[in-house]
Amino acid sequence: MSNSTLLQVIDLYVNYRVVRKFTDITSRVRSAVAGVNFTLSEGETLGVVGGSGSGKTTLLKTIVGVLKPSKGEVIYRGVNVHNAKGELKKKIMAEIGYVPQEPSQSLDPRMKISSSVTEPLRALGVGKSDRYERARYILKVVGLSEEVLELYPRDLSIGMLQRVAIARALITKPKLVLLDEPTSSLDISTQAQILNFLREMKEVFNLSYIIVTHDISVASYLSERLAVMSHGTTIEEGSVDEVLNEPLHPYTRVLIEASKLKEIEESLEEASAGCPFINLCTFKTDVCFKKPPPQIAIGMRRVKCWRYSSK
Ligand SMILES: Nc1ncnc2c1ncn2[C@@H]1O[C@H](COP(=O)(O)OP(=O)(O)O)[C@@H](O)[C@H]1O
Ligand code: SF4
Ligand SMILES: [Mg+2]
Repeated sequence: MSNSTLLQVIDLYVNYRVVRKFTDITSRVRSAVAGVNFTLSEGETLGVVGGSGSGKTTLLKTIVGVLKPSKGEVIYRGVNVHNAKGELKKKIMAEIGYVPQEPSQSLDPRMKISSSVTEPLRALGVGKSDRYERARYILKVVGLSEEVLELYPRDLSIGMLQRVAIARALITKPKLVLLDEPTSSLDISTQAQILNFLREMKEVFNLSYIIVTHDISVASYLSERLAVMSHGTTIEEGSVDEVLNEPLHPYTRVLIEASKLKEIEESLEEASAGCPFINLCTFKTDVCFKKPPPQIAIGMRRVKCWRYSSK
């Protein structure tokens, strides 16, 4: 382990016990993480990319200590996260922040934002006035006004809720922040805001991130290294440039193609007057910018594209 090593995930396996029926005493084991290894250095960001059900959320919950491994270890600054006790455990809890998937579901709807944001400090035994002072500071950092503390989750937009979830993760002054699909519930412009904001937070607080997402372009934007995950294990790992420009695994190629398709869809959403395909079309002419294309008949076929217009 080098001096700058922050986290080691060693041969990690995590199983869930699934009860088939409420009345059934037998249960079977579902493997969710099945052999994950990686090392994260201080200040580094690792993007973990994979489809739904590949084990990303389970991996993060195990790193943060919510779930226990069936096999393997999570070592944070030389200490096994799952064996730590007392003050050492509190120190690790403070140093690893966690932004769960779906901020709207991770914040208790019955709790004021002030209670949700200060919860991690309460768990560490920090006194009320210190908790609230820190909450006011951290809310300002994430770009929200102090008044938000007195509101409930239902009063906030999804983008604001995500900022609250990030504030809650940052309130304990962590070194490492785990981000579970931080942009997947947001619209395109809010996604960009949150990604830029996460980059800024990384600089300001000298953070390391593990970001898990199904979108390889989101992971690439924040990360230095990428790990591609499928069926509970990492199937490819490398620098962002290596993985994007020379993917080794066929599944990585599929993820890259899927993210290109998403970019095309986004460029369609952004198009305004004229033809909606203008951002991706290589045949466009002046008229395409000015008027939506009419339907043109070519024999028995129909197409809406100025290219086939005789005018
Ligand atoms: N609480 C649970 N009980 C049983 N199985 C679960 C539970 N949570 C997740 N799983 C299963 O574990 C696998 C990995 O899930 P998850 O870690 O949520 O993947 P991802 O975040 O990549 O979508 C999936 O097959 C999922 O159905
Ligand atoms: S009208 Fe046809 S040629 Fe013009 S931008 Fe649209 S798709 Fe391209
Ligand atoms: Mg998930």
